[in-house]
Amino acid sequence: MPEGWVNVFDVQREAERKLEPGPRGYFSGGAGDEVTLRESVGAWQGWRLRPRMLTGVEAPSTAAEVLGKPLPVPLLVAPVAYQRLLHPEGEKAMARAAAAVGTVMCLSTLANATPADVAAAAPGGRHWFQLYPFRDGGVTRALMAEAVGAGFEAVVLTVDAPPGGSRERDVRSGFTIPGAVEIPSVAAALGGSRTVTVAETFDLMDLTLTWDDVAGIAADAGAPLFVKGVVTAEDAALALEHGVAGIIVSNHGGRQLDRCVTTAEALPEIVEAVARRVPVLVDGGIRRGVDICVALALGADAVLVGRPAAWGLAADGAAGAEWVLRTLTRELELALALIGVATPAELGPEHLRSAGPTRVYSGAEVSGSSSF
Ligand SMILES: Cc1cc2nc3c(=O)[nH]c(=O)nc-3n(C[C@H](O)[C@H](O)[C@H](O)COP(=O)(O)O)c2cc1C
Repeated sequence: MPEGWVNVFDVQREAERKLEPGPRGYFSGGAGDEVTLRESVGAWQGWRLRPRMLTGVEAPSTAAEVLGKPLPVPLLVAPVAYQRLLHPEGEKAMARAAAAVGTVMCLSTLANATPADVAAAAPGGRHWFQLYPFRDGGVTRALMAEAVGAGFEAVVLTVDAPPGGSRERDVRSGFTIPGAVEIPSVAAALGGSRTVTVAETFDLMDLTLTWDDVAGIAADAGAPLFVKGVVTAEDAALALEHGVAGIIVSNHGGRQLDRCVTTAEALPEIVEAVARRVPVLVDGGIRRGVDICVALALGADAVLVGRPAAWGLAADGAAGAEWVLRTLTRELELALALIGVATPAELGPEHLRSAGPTRVYSGAEVSGSSSF
């Protein structure tokens, strides 16, 4: 393990030092002016915790549950595309990291490994499959069938892309995914592997989907269907009407619509609309155990991290990603003890107070780095 790592921002610095400018911008960057990217980190910091004293909690447990299945910690690995650009072992290493801590890894449609490869690389690991439906419905159905056949427990339909957001770092760097770094789903759709831009991969996807298609996808999936990318109560209500098993509140980590509402802001209205009928997960800007506490106190069942796990993979392979997941778990455990609750499920609105308008910090500003 690289010496001197204390928190996620140390891993971010190490990853950004190691990556070439193209991948560095792709993995760390966001859309447009990156207002939503920065605010997504800052919005969790806009809440203050109200700890209770002398509650007699000796050693809190971080254990949680999603869809009736236990998790050692309410922290999952978000789908992140093209992980072989982070590390030669890519998604297979990420799957091993998630399996080592016993949590779920969500595999992207735009992965550099097939669902079967990932399942084989992490025996006993738990996986969900993130879906971007292709224009070619045969490719979509084959992907879902492979994932569910390989034991993936849920399908996550991402609804905030395509099209891809305006990622200006990628334009400046001329970022492409080389043909040698194969994307099996894209190769299936194109009939072979070649160098592609992010926009070219999104061009292969079906842009005509509506909520009416969701029930059909749920029926085809053969596993519980989550929708990922919901940020309004209205869309949460539509998702429920169309039979989803769960909702992931997400703005794609600030990579799609810049000036999009942050997920910390969106979460309460969605929790209210869902009224515990299905699990509500959230991602975007989670960098600390106390961020997880805020999300859970606002009503989320669990959170996901995208970039932190990706930075871990870039910095030190599977061990680096595992370090990130274990560090966030440790931070959560200590925060639960200091708040005075025995489990994550005990967190509620009574543990929060809004700090009012706060300065927006980027993760790296918090850690004193100027690399952001
Ligand atoms: C480099 C990168 C690639 C991503 N690729 C995908 C993807 O293929 N599918 C998807 O649904 N979300 C994708 N996301 C979004 C993540 O799943 C997640 O919503 C986001 O990263 C959460 O914010 P965080 O990075 O601050 O944790 C990607 C995010 C990043 C940073």
